[in-house]
Amino acid sequence: MIAKSADVPDNCYHDDVEGVLVDEATLHARIAEMAKAASDRYRGEDEDTILLCVLKGATYFIADFARAMDIPTQMEFMALSTYGQSAESSGTVEIRMDLTRDIAGRNVIILEDIIESGITLHWLVDHLKGRGPKSLEVVTLLRKPEAVERDVETTDIGFDIPSDFVVGYGLDYAERYRDLPWVGTLRPSVYS
Ligand code: IMP
Ligand code: MG
Repeated sequence: MIAKSADVPDNCYHDDVEGVLVDEATLHARIAEMAKAASDRYRGEDEDTILLCVLKGATYFIADFARAMDIPTQMEFMALSTYGQSAESSGTVEIRMDLTRDIAGRNVIILEDIIESGITLHWLVDHLKGRGPKSLEVVTLLRKPEAVERDVETTDIGFDIPSDFVVGYGLDYAERYRDLPWVGTLRPSVYS
């Protein structure tokens, strides 16, 4: 599990960020590793691999991941909303924006920013299987192992992190902080 550093680079959110959890160099090195491994899994396939980005959190991830792969890929985007994410509820997932193309017969890699309860991805994998892809797998940048409730089969996980709320590199709090180039933790005063 990765640990927090109190060194915070200069940023436009000033005192909101308490610490850096994954710095830029560490992010990029790990993403390059995961992209290389994914390229090796799909090399030699007839059709281009589809990278499916779960909006909005995985946008920076897909951009870096696709550029670090060395086989042809195509991008697709999907937006989901998960309601009732509590320990007692199984959660309801709704598609806010669907794919623009058919994925039947295609190799699909779902790219997700973070798995917390696992409810969102568990639902998505189940749902997409119904569309008849040739193969379907999940690669997530972050996972909070202490929070996972629903089983999600992941092919690769960038970093296991503590259960604290994190922002940056695509992850938000109330739509802010996505544009930070690293993953950090917020000061509790920001959300209280
Ligand atoms: P799950 O269904 O509980 O696994 O929720 C996953 C989704 O919750 C992610 O795709 C994020 O959008 C959001 N999320 C969970 N934890 C965090 C966090 O620490 N920071 C920002 N977003 C988070
Ligand atoms: Mg998300």
